[in-house]
Amino acid sequence: MDNNQVKVIEAKDLRLVKNKQEIFSIESFSLKKGEVLSLIGPNGTGKTSLLLTLALLQSPSQGTLYFKDRKITKDKIIFLRRQMAVVFQEPLLFDTTVEQNILAGLKIRGIAKKEALERADWWMSRLVIKHLAARPARHLSGGEAQRVNLVRALVLEPKVLFLDEPFAALDYPTKNTLLKEMGLLLRETRQTTLFVTHDYTEIPFLTEKVAVMYQGKIIKNASIKEIFGPEILARNKSLKVPWP
Ligand SMILES: Nc1ncnc2c1ncn2[C@@H]1O[C@H](COP(=O)(O)OP(=O)(O)OP(=O)(O)O)[C@@H](O)[C@H]1O
Ligand SMILES: [Mg+2]
Repeated sequence: MDNNQVKVIEAKDLRLVKNKQEIFSIESFSLKKGEVLSLIGPNGTGKTSLLLTLALLQSPSQGTLYFKDRKITKDKIIFLRRQMAVVFQEPLLFDTTVEQNILAGLKIRGIAKKEALERADWWMSRLVIKHLAARPARHLSGGEAQRVNLVRALVLEPKVLFLDEPFAALDYPTKNTLLKEMGLLLRETRQTTLFVTHDYTEIPFLTEKVAVMYQGKIIKNASIKEIFGPEILARNKSLKVPWP
């Protein structure tokens, strides 16, 4: 089988109910190896809930999840969680130095110190935060903290990277620069990624494939050109809203 066709994560008949209310109901969903897929949709439509379920941080009420074609059973959850990384809108950093923050996840995963230091060094350079290595994380600006947060996830070289609106709190120039850098980086490393956002103007920077979520359902799954038309190349706010 073509390696690129391997489904790293797959979901069938996935449903989440909370307080007797259906949060989402997804017939089928998959993320292939090396693919960067955007999941977009308005506020409150269930994107974060779906991301948390796929990242094995939330149990579904119904349905089956697969990791590389194998059904995910309860006994595998902790092991598989360690192969994934999640970045949220708010950087949740430990009250220590930037470098210690970046090394923490590698240590938990049993990576030897020498390799961990080399990986941390490489990824800090890649996202231009090496000069911050010895700084206390609590003194960072919002933009710097989010770069550290992204490096903390990327350094793990996870089988799946989940990004939940990591650029939402950044000012426009900061966001723009970081989006461009992340776009290049994800393409270059072929990092399998699910990128969640309600701001669909962010997606052309990162991905070509888009799933549109609306009221707990995936209503479209296509290329950005199919969803937005040629205007997508303009990368600006004049894009048409892709949901009803
Ligand atoms: N623990 C919970 N209990 C009850 N309802 C919840 C819970 N978590 C989320 N919800 C509801 O589920 C719906 C989907 O929420 P979710 O956070 O997944 O949406 P979202 O698409 O990520 O929105 P946003 O773009 O604002 O981040 C919302 O109506 C929310 O109120
Ligand atoms: Mg959300």
